[in-house]
Amino acid sequence: MSKKVFIKTFGCQMNVYDSNRIYDSLKTIGFEKTDNQNQTDCYILNTCHIRDKAKEKVYHEVGRVKKIYQNKKKPIMVIAGCVAQAENDEMFKREPFIDVVIGPQSYHKINNTIKNFLNIKKIEETEIDTIEKFEHFDKIKNSSNKVSSFLTIQEGCDKFCHFCVVPFTRGPEYSRPFKKILQEAEILIKNGVKEITLLGQNVNAYSFIENNKEYRISNLINELEKFSEIKRIRYTTSHPIDMTDDLIECYKYNKKLMPFIHLPIQSGSNKILKLMNRKHTVEQYVDVCDKILKNNPEVKFSSDFIVSYPGEEQCDFEDTINLIKKIKFINSFSFIFSPRPGTKAGEFKTIDNNISKDKLIEMQNLLFEYQIQTNKNFKGRTLSVLIENKMNETKKLFGRNKYLNSVICDGSENNVGKEVIVKVEKYNQNSLFGKIINLDTKAA
Ligand code: SAM
Ligand code: SF4
Ligand code: F3S
Repeated sequence: MSKKVFIKTFGCQMNVYDSNRIYDSLKTIGFEKTDNQNQTDCYILNTCHIRDKAKEKVYHEVGRVKKIYQNKKKPIMVIAGCVAQAENDEMFKREPFIDVVIGPQSYHKINNTIKNFLNIKKIEETEIDTIEKFEHFDKIKNSSNKVSSFLTIQEGCDKFCHFCVVPFTRGPEYSRPFKKILQEAEILIKNGVKEITLLGQNVNAYSFIENNKEYRISNLINELEKFSEIKRIRYTTSHPIDMTDDLIECYKYNKKLMPFIHLPIQSGSNKILKLMNRKHTVEQYVDVCDKILKNNPEVKFSSDFIVSYPGEEQCDFEDTINLIKKIKFINSFSFIFSPRPGTKAGEFKTIDNNISKDKLIEMQNLLFEYQIQTNKNFKGRTLSVLIENKMNETKKLFGRNKYLNSVICDGSENNVGKEVIVKVEKYNQNSLFGKIINLDTKAA
């Protein structure tokens, strides 16, 4: 009987992609994916280190798994992801239930590590060897057959924003070979994938040089556009300074590139951007948005914001509020600054938590207002929706419009994988509700 592996994933989309690739890799040594966390031979937690609570969550989760298995044979307990990279063998001292600690740039070693695990020695793999990792995974078929799938093109970060652990947990920027990415895209297409989201910590910094020619993300978008099976192309997460003219130009000509961009700015104050080491100003950010909108006026933006970064005064916070009002972000993430060990800002004096919480609530209320206003504007309109799956609980169909809003509608399962026209009848803050219509209407 084959052995079972269960993976619980925290953090960003790249962790979701990595978990799927770990399943693909372990399959080659006889492990089968299971959704039953109560009965598995190998339990992997794929972790995130971005804010302080993330780390505590990992130990809490391990404690929970320990309880599940207190009267049964213990699974091999693996900590993968960014906490593994940051904490390495410290984790064994704090929690002896953990057997293996493996960082994101060592996943090519996961097969041997698990295969040779003998329960006598703890194993830590946190060397950063991104090239070898991708070479290993290039030989293993990506089995994702989700209508909408991720595809990592770039990993790591050289920007060193003063608040962020990612350059330490994911290592330096690395761009995968252009052809390998397209080969993986072809596999996904054969699996039935209709939408590809290109992933990277700085996805638009993608740069691969071969025979003196530089390949950028714009070249990848142009190549993917040629596959008739691919209906939609997205990418995330972008840095404003890498929004180069070739990428902005794509918004003029590429019909499959979705008119929705997640473009984190963090703060609307130039003083704070400088303290964060963000390498761009508010004016440069607004200029990028304006240029994109000139090429395609349909484009909408979302962003990430950090509240109460050390040094933030009321006037800086108000600058951020004004920027939100100017751009009218339709869907954004906002967080209170969390000091991270090893980062520059980790040593700075923090702002009172009550003040920070009040600011966060004020910001989120404004962001939610735009979110709900956007959804309200869709009511009564027809939208093009890519149907991703049938929902188990309600038997309704789930899909997304061009702006990544969730759309829930009635209809037959035959529509899964198709772009259909939905008339929106109701909305709430997070979702749109409607029915599929067959009119040949021009949909938004
Ligand atoms: N690479 C992207 C960029 O350039 O903005 C995002 C990387 S990070 C995975 C996602 C978001 O987490 C950031 O945009 C930031 O808003 C937030 N974040 C990162 N470090 C943080 C910290 N120390 N405290 C609070 N939020 C943080
Ligand atoms: Fe973190 Fe900044 Fe790099 Fe984004 S660009 S991953 S926020 S260091
Ligand atoms: Fe978290 Fe690592 Fe992603 S810190 S956000 S899982 S890159």
